[in-house]
Amino acid sequence: MKIDILTLFPHMFDNFLTESIIGRAINKNLVTINIHNIRDYSTDPHKKVDDYPFGGGRGMVLMPQPVFDAVANLKTSDSFVILMTPQGELFKQKKAYELSFKKHLIIICGHYEGFDERIRSLADLELSIGDYILTGGELASQVITDSIVRLIDGVIAKESHLNDSFNNNLLDYPVYTKPVDYNGMKVPDVLLSGHHQNIEKWRHEQSVIRTKKRRPDLLGDD
Ligand code: ADE
Repeated sequence: MKIDILTLFPHMFDNFLTESIIGRAINKNLVTINIHNIRDYSTDPHKKVDDYPFGGGRGMVLMPQPVFDAVANLKTSDSFVILMTPQGELFKQKKAYELSFKKHLIIICGHYEGFDERIRSLADLELSIGDYILTGGELASQVITDSIVRLIDGVIAKESHLNDSFNNNLLDYPVYTKPVDYNGMKVPDVLLSGHHQNIEKWRHEQSVIRTKKRRPDLLGDD
């Protein structure tokens, strides 16, 4: 997969691209991630990218020209364009899974004070990562990229994400490691029994109990 991210703050991605699972996926050539500075596409002599809103009001608005030119430059018939905005569809695990099969994602990071409405016409999908306002789309684009890339074949062991919370609309079951008894807090006997069927049954029950208690809203999700 190839991911092109358009931003006004490319350095916000420096550590993101080199650390942990994402860094490893890039090194293994399972994904290519390019960061593009929207400013580089500005045709303004001073590389201006934003201006005052028509009709008045506070703040500066990201202009269409550099974003349209950047997308035109990167887009192919395989591309899927995502715009990060708090007004977008709420991002969920199911969407991460769907997007992990795309060949090419172009992700546009929204501007902290707003972007020209015409920029929306470039997007195949607008995504929000939650009902709160960030200073820009950069962190949001990293959140979705992280959750998509870990689902690409070969990035992590498949078993690791088959049991992820939110698969089948259930939260993950509890897991334990050594020691069997930590300060009087014991690992449930069933996990030490070696009886696989009972373990699977217990895990499923725990997932259901946990979901009912913590996130009953998930049980009604499609
Ligand atoms: N930009 C600012 N806030 C955002 C959010 N919650 N989701 C996606 N993009 C954003």
